[in-house]
Amino acid sequence: MDGKRVLLIVGGGIAAYKVLDLVRRLRERGVSVRTVLTQAGAQFVTPLSLASLSGNPVHTDLFSLTDEAQMGHIELSRSADLVVVAPATADLLAKAANGLANDLASTLLLATDKRVLMVPAMNVRMWQHPATQRNVAQLQRDGILFVGPDDGAMACGEFGPGRMSEVLDIVVAIDAAFRMQARAQQQQAPGILAGKRVIITSGPTYEPIDPVRYIANRSSGKQGHAIAEAAARAGADVLLVCGPVAIPDPVGVTCVHVESAREMLGAVEAGLPADIYIGAAAVADWRVGTAVVEKLKKGASGPPSLGLVENPDILATISTHQKRPVLVVGFAAETQTVVEHAQAKLKKKKCDLIIANDVSAQSGVMGGDENTVHLVSKSGVDHWPRMAKTAVAQRLVEHLAKLLKEGA
Ligand code: C5P
Repeated sequence: MDGKRVLLIVGGGIAAYKVLDLVRRLRERGVSVRTVLTQAGAQFVTPLSLASLSGNPVHTDLFSLTDEAQMGHIELSRSADLVVVAPATADLLAKAANGLANDLASTLLLATDKRVLMVPAMNVRMWQHPATQRNVAQLQRDGILFVGPDDGAMACGEFGPGRMSEVLDIVVAIDAAFRMQARAQQQQAPGILAGKRVIITSGPTYEPIDPVRYIANRSSGKQGHAIAEAAARAGADVLLVCGPVAIPDPVGVTCVHVESAREMLGAVEAGLPADIYIGAAAVADWRVGTAVVEKLKKGASGPPSLGLVENPDILATISTHQKRPVLVVGFAAETQTVVEHAQAKLKKKKCDLIIANDVSAQSGVMGGDENTVHLVSKSGVDHWPRMAKTAVAQRLVEHLAKLLKEGA
């Protein structure tokens, strides 16, 4: 990141206080930071603290003659390698999605020719409001990058998605955006998956028992998310359908968040056609037949029986779909006879490739950062050494690109 330049637009939200730390962390890494403070942002942090930490004057006014004399707003919008909006409030997202330009921040977002990374933070209901979700979807279509928001307790006392991502997660997303840019500039040649559409599922599913309880599993989503990011870096148009996870959306992919297996299947089918489908999610095999609308109560009749019924098998459905992608890839998380189970799954689910991994407690794979995988296909088994999940993702993307090229 050393030597890179960030234009940081600070919106008006309580999370703005974290931005001071973000500026510090970026400067520690050799990044130069120019800041723009909205009128609402100035209610939460002062221009003086931003100026002191960034070492640069703070820009606040669209019609400041002094600022314009030193650096016009068009030049300011282009003087950075990346524009970061943090906190990206509902108002800033709405303005950017609709191309409004009635203050310095929104004008810069319209005038810039650089990538923009939004770091949303707002009340959970504001985040979930259809208007905000429409704006986010529009911005993603426009190529705007996002990190967060996270789930959790909020300053307003509510709980849910809307918290601004932690500062170090924002730094990682900024770094990823720089890397994407660097790669795009270096490789004048298109990426190995350029022009290809890839759909990936990741994370666990939650199957409701009643309004407060659910059946879940320990999948972290790290492997699926890493594959999504690697495919995006390789130039693919990536749709990530993601169950409830505690990690941020990968940079450069369109992410649809779902809870249950049936929602996940719906989102995958809605995303077809595609060239590659990768089912990395740990989809629950069963759900409660009749999820109860009211919370179950302890009673004299003893524990309720859940009456489980089978969930749709997303992988098998996509393998036999009339819009079947050219390559359909599944994962097999096993605790014993890993390869044999994967071979059986390959046949049963009619997919082209199964990535088998050992998820027994001693393997440390569930939730960990490393993985040991075996690629099982009709043509045999390929054992890969233990490596980082990000390295598995990169190698898998290269392997799939090769298979597509060979006309798999
Ligand atoms: O049968 P098992 O759950 O071990 O198979 C794992 C593979 O099948 C994974 O790729 C997973 O995403 C997929 N799967 C699915 N729908 C299910 C169960 C598993 O797509 N209901």
